[in-house]
Amino acid sequence: MPSIRLVDVLLERRILVCVGSGGVGKTTTAATLALAAARRGKRTLVLTIDPARRLANSLGLASLGHQVQEVDPALVRKGAPNANGQLFAMMLDQKMAFDEVVGKHAKDPAAVKRILANPVYAQISGSLAGAQEYAAMAKLHDFDQSGDYDLIVVDTPPTAHALDFLDAPKKLSEAIDSPAIDWFRKLQGEGGSRWSLVGKSGAFIIKRLAKFVGSKFINDLSVFFTEFNDILGGFRQRAEETFSLLRQPRVGFLLVASPEPMAVSEALAFHQRLKSAGMPFVGFVVNKIHQSRPIRVGAPQVEASLGVQPSIIGLGLSGTTRTMAAQALVTAHGEIETRALADQLAVAAMRTAGGPEAVLVEVPLQHEDVHDVDRLVALERFLLG
Ligand SMILES: Nc1ncnc2c1ncn2[C@@H]1O[C@H](COP(=O)(O)OP(=O)(O)OP(=O)(O)O)[C@@H](O)[C@H]1O
Ligand SMILES: [Mg+2]
Repeated sequence: MPSIRLVDVLLERRILVCVGSGGVGKTTTAATLALAAARRGKRTLVLTIDPARRLANSLGLASLGHQVQEVDPALVRKGAPNANGQLFAMMLDQKMAFDEVVGKHAKDPAAVKRILANPVYAQISGSLAGAQEYAAMAKLHDFDQSGDYDLIVVDTPPTAHALDFLDAPKKLSEAIDSPAIDWFRKLQGEGGSRWSLVGKSGAFIIKRLAKFVGSKFINDLSVFFTEFNDILGGFRQRAEETFSLLRQPRVGFLLVASPEPMAVSEALAFHQRLKSAGMPFVGFVVNKIHQSRPIRVGAPQVEASLGVQPSIIGLGLSGTTRTMAAQALVTAHGEIETRALADQLAVAAMRTAGGPEAVLVEVPLQHEDVHDVDRLVALERFLLG
């Protein structure tokens, strides 16, 4: 048994981040943990960046967007150990979060308006490397600073590279310093001809480009980069600082994994990556585990029981069919047992990697999708013990 229990982590830490590969159960885990904390009296926020409506559905919310919404207290508190908790949820809209960051860094409100209205902004805000992650982090930072919540549980999006955010500050700096951006910035030089600032070949390209896209667009570009320059400077300085929040001891990373071999090797690689990046790793949640239910009988006994229990499966089966059905059942059971054994090997690999300091919880594969509060509450006992 691990010495640290997830329930203690839940009650002590201020921010829990659920990371892991696609489809392993990050959203389900984040929702279950947030709900569990609220049911223990905490004022909890679950923050998702997942565009899927899964979280909203599971929490009984008709819709979920960039506004914090409270989950129906009656749902949260039903049968709860402590009836003073509250649960809030928000689905972060990365574009809106980015607009808010711009709003904070710009010189004045008029500049914010001009930038947000500039057509170039609409393009770049969605494609500047690392900017989306930074905007999400800035939002998390604000919530953390506000002191409005005892606990914030963060559900990360279904990306191919689950730990993209670790590289985000570097990517952002590289993007800001890229020759292309620098080049556009120089277009709007003070005084004189701006073409001269980009050199002869640059001026030629711009003139050719203007033929295609119109000189207004070229002008929008240069105006945008000049105004945006102050903001980019602010970004560079503050990105590292904002991301450093994740390394604080009041934060905890939970690696959600399923026991399939591919998912296990990915989880082990993520674990290494988190550790080498100095992130406060809490432990593994191994989700969708096949449970072993050994039977001490063979095909003949199963066949015999099919004969005496016609109301279940053996109804109307002839002798030969019953023999085949019994054999098929025993084979299917054997396959599940093999899966259960393989899943335990996967758990053991993660336990070894995490060491005695890490939390390790196993959540069995449920027969149905987990899509409402009652089912989330039912998962709580596996997560918290
Ligand atoms: N223990 C479980 N047993 C059965 N089904 C589960 C379990 N945990 C999660 N699921 C189901 O698996 C699916 C994926 O879960 P979830 O959305 O939480 O994963 P995710 O890691 O957030 O996925 P994505 O990477 O797409 O965001 C959902 O349909 C969910 O209901
Ligand atoms: Mg998800």
